[in-house]
Amino acid sequence: MFNLFKNKNIKGDLKIDEIKSRLHELKSPIDGKDIISSGLVSSILFKNGDVKIILEADQNDIPKIEPLTDAIIKTLSSINGVEKVSPILTAHSINNGQSPVGSPNQERKKPNIESIRPDNISKIIAIASAKGGVGKSTIAFNLAQSLAKRGKKVGLLDADIYGPSLPTLLGHTTKIAQASENGKIDPIEAHGLKAMSMGFVVNQGQALIWRGPMLLKALTQLFMGTNWGALDYLVVDMPPGTGDVQISLAQQARLDGVIIVSTPQEMALADVRRGIDMFQKAKVSVLGLIENMSVLIDENSGAEIDLFGKGGAKKAAAELGINYLGEVNFYPSLQKASDNGQVAPNSATKQFDEIANRIDI
Ligand SMILES: Nc1ncnc2c1ncn2[C@@H]1O[C@H](COP(=O)(O)OP(=O)(O)O)[C@@H](O)[C@H]1O
Ligand SMILES: [Mg+2]
Repeated sequence: MFNLFKNKNIKGDLKIDEIKSRLHELKSPIDGKDIISSGLVSSILFKNGDVKIILEADQNDIPKIEPLTDAIIKTLSSINGVEKVSPILTAHSINNGQSPVGSPNQERKKPNIESIRPDNISKIIAIASAKGGVGKSTIAFNLAQSLAKRGKKVGLLDADIYGPSLPTLLGHTTKIAQASENGKIDPIEAHGLKAMSMGFVVNQGQALIWRGPMLLKALTQLFMGTNWGALDYLVVDMPPGTGDVQISLAQQARLDGVIIVSTPQEMALADVRRGIDMFQKAKVSVLGLIENMSVLIDENSGAEIDLFGKGGAKKAAAELGINYLGEVNFYPSLQKASDNGQVAPNSATKQFDEIANRIDI
């Protein structure tokens, strides 16, 4: 059970021994034994002052174990030579008759799909892409603002549990969301939006790695455990990829539509087709395609520089028979604004507004 990864050097071994002996001081909230003897710690990694402790528990026990992460950070930070401590919680898949979601076995029997669709939300629109880094979060955030400017009540849910972007986009990189009296969490209100992200409920650096079932549980919390109130639109920044988690999310939230984002050079038809296939499998209508980082605009001269082959998305949309919603240029100032929690420059905002006006749902 105890599986130790470590550096192959004596200094590293000694450090791991010291770490292990300090971990013996901490008690498991599950069985009262120390966390090494109880089998909670599955691995210890130590490299260049950086310690990673992998904790593995039944998914039902995860909430009880979570407070331990702070105790681990505190205990291990006092060791000489340790600069950073990252406890990582992972869930065993439970075996109570249900196949774990995320299992490659697609034929699992699931008579009823548990709903994670909050009440009083008219339309849930997802922003998705087959690949990461194409600007999904940037587009979700700015389109949500454009919809809000049209007088709509808009929520924005950052469903990217592993790499939440909303904390950076909103300039709130520490845990800030507050539980309210009804036991749910109040969203952050900013730029006319109600926003929620995993990054608002756990501190960054407290890395949480959740596998299939646990990931869906965390997503359920974000959807159902947030005080959204009545909304015209909930915009969901989808986790990247086209796997089981994305399909379950699409079905459980009963998405009303999805918008697919791509950059022109990554507009490999195969990628877009994969994304579309997935949403069709989940019976979600594809509202259209957006080309992001279409051309680079020289913000001094206003000149357009075609870096990646502008127009790829428009062509792909036509070939695939889906709507083309428009393009967003590459604005160096948009990147700076996004990374610093500031609002987008006017020229970019204009393009987002135009796209929002074409969303016909
Ligand atoms: N149109 C754009 N112009 C300039 N920078 C952009 C644009 N769209 C996205 N970016 C930048 O590209 C990076 C990736 O964007 P992000 O929205 O996080 O992608 P994803 O959510 O698909 O991973 C970020 O640094 C973001 O600021
Ligand atoms: Mg993102």
